[in-house]
Amino acid sequence: MKKLMVANWKMNKNGNEVMEFLHAFKPKYSQKRDAWIASQALYLKLIINEGVSAGLQNCSEHVSGAYTGEVSPRSFKEMGGTFVITGHSERRQYFNETSRSLNAKNRTVLAEGLTAIYCVGETLAEREANLTLSLIADQIHQGLNDLSLANENNLVVAYEPVWAIGTGKTATPAQAQEVHAFIRQTLKAKFPAFGDKVRILYGGSVKPDNVEELLSQKDIDGGLVGGASLKPKDFLALCGDV
Ligand code: PGA
Repeated sequence: MKKLMVANWKMNKNGNEVMEFLHAFKPKYSQKRDAWIASQALYLKLIINEGVSAGLQNCSEHVSGAYTGEVSPRSFKEMGGTFVITGHSERRQYFNETSRSLNAKNRTVLAEGLTAIYCVGETLAEREANLTLSLIADQIHQGLNDLSLANENNLVVAYEPVWAIGTGKTATPAQAQEVHAFIRQTLKAKFPAFGDKVRILYGGSVKPDNVEELLSQKDIDGGLVGGASLKPKDFLALCGDV
């Protein structure tokens, strides 16, 4: 399975900074690993125009209509978009998204021919209470309930322990692998035809100096990266292009 590195720029970078990044990144990027970028929605067309796969960090569960301020996944697909990140922990935390409400969004994203990168992960309190695996199972069952996959590329699952995001604390490769193996089993049971081929990304303080060990784990198929994806040099290193 080809590894996938996804840059989640969150609400960082203006248009000039996006172009500077792309001009530094593209000539050195070898395609050894897939590299996808989720910038602010405003700048995604710049990324698409440079031939790089681009994604929204969130979208509407509707495709058109009276939803002031929302972004339609259908319009994004028409513009050349590739994917949408759904259920990032910052959206669950600050915008009250739940696995149940995300189910509708995941369905729309898939129906429109985009790839959903569905994020799951536990807080520190949940990990310490030994709830990690049951919580992840609930997040997967609720968020992906009754979803039909046309092929394995429709869906990516990102395991992002909330306590590791932007904190500098990374899950150890063994901790991450344990959860990834559990996600793999759950996906296989849920989507018998494709579950073993859906890519499962790890996210949470992935950096050039820990990426190779994480990627060497059996069920870690790539990374969803915030802070370390902002500099072209670091993102190139994460893509295996040093
Ligand atoms: P981080 O963010 O790499 O800065 O920890 C990851 C994410 O929020 O997806």
